Amino acid sequence: MSKVAFITGISGQDGSYLADLLLSKGYSVHGIIRRSSSFNTARLEHHIQNPEVYNKTFFLHYGDLSDYNSIYNIFEKTNPDEVYNLGAQSHVKVSFDMPVYTGQIDGIGTLHMLEATKEHQYRLGKQIRYYQASSSEMYGKVQEVPQTENTKFYPRSPYGCAKVYGHHLTINYRESYDLHASCGILFNHESPRRGETFVTRKITRAIGRIYQGLQKNLVLGNMDALRDWGYAGDYVEAMWLMLQQDTPDDYVVATGNMISVREFCEKAFSYAGLKNYEQYVVTDERYFRPAEVDQLLGNPEKAKRQLGWKPKVDIDGLVRMMVDHDMELARKEFMIKHMTPTKQHNHSKYEIHHS
Ligand code: NAP
Ligand code: GDD
Repeated sequence: MSKVAFITGISGQDGSYLADLLLSKGYSVHGIIRRSSSFNTARLEHHIQNPEVYNKTFFLHYGDLSDYNSIYNIFEKTNPDEVYNLGAQSHVKVSFDMPVYTGQIDGIGTLHMLEATKEHQYRLGKQIRYYQASSSEMYGKVQEVPQTENTKFYPRSPYGCAKVYGHHLTINYRESYDLHASCGILFNHESPRRGETFVTRKITRAIGRIYQGLQKNLVLGNMDALRDWGYAGDYVEAMWLMLQQDTPDDYVVATGNMISVREFCEKAFSYAGLKNYEQYVVTDERYFRPAEVDQLLGNPEKAKRQLGWKPKVDIDGLVRMMVDHDMELARKEFMIKHMTPTKQHNHSKYEIHHS
């Protein structure tokens, strides 16, 4: 019998990579999607379009972390062995604009997931393993460098505060109800599937579009912030490894290296062949945060030692992967923008229209 996994946040960056990983390991994968007025499953299209997988080993259910009933029903329908709680309002800047909502989803939503896990574990008499997406944002104004599992938290945003609540709740459920519940304290991780409003992807998307003449400038906020950036594909492996351990625990997942937003720009623009990134980048107060996390640097020694995990993609590999992807995406965007249906040909044919 294949194992059954239930993923919240499956339509997001990490959820989509985790679904790829678990399907490749023979799992049946169930995920929550939210009802929206337009499609929100672009990162899952390769599974949705695959008749060997869709509704055979890969299933999507409507639900929302704010709606306990929908969560409970999905547990009942799917009877999961492993639960990965990745769903969140995950944008730090947006959490200042929507603090209550962020608390409801990232904090109380986590409580809904833990309650449903506890209820089903008791009801079914089988162990359910639970993963909580904790965040390096919990360290906020960092109290030591590098940060380990024992570093004191000092969150600097409503998002960070909600994640601290979810983190401590998960530990509390582990200790109170003997749940196999683990927290991954993941440092920033990126990929070609990263949301376009997070800084790395915003930069690589802009590079492709500037190169194609589709935009002139890149408008950023604080370019001095330092982050420990890794590759999302590597980080979902760490999530899975945590749930394969005999004992649940908490782990920092990071590369152990950090660079600034400015240095990321330098690397990415120069890899794309656009010298002097400064001529394209402007800063605007609009993208600064009421309170900033100046630096994050993780120490992943425990994950390396206990899980046997290590990152495969370094910062230069990550930059290359993202820039290559977004150069190609912008090239396609350029083609579509400059193509007009031709009168001479069949209307389904297009030609480049240089004006
Ligand atoms: P993401 O791309 O923003 O994806 C977030 C996911 O959560 C999406 O599938 C989103 O659905 C879903 N979601 C949002 N609100 C929801 C709600 N009310 N009910 C149910 N689902 C909801 O984020 P990510 O980068 O994959 O991150 C995954 C998790 O790891 C998040 O919890 C994030 O906070 C945490 N984390 C991320 C990083 C990182 O660097 N990426 C680092 C540490 C921790 P829609 O597609 O419908 O919006
Ligand atoms: N988003 C964004 N947009 N950030 C900018 C910009 C901009 O135009 N300009 C500068 N920055 C700076 C931010 O101020 C921050 O210091 C840094 O770039 C990284 O911002 P994000 O990419 O938005 O990521 P984050 O570090 O705030 O949060 C991400 O990582 C956390 C883990 O540390 C998110 O994925 C969180 O969900 C995650 O928990």
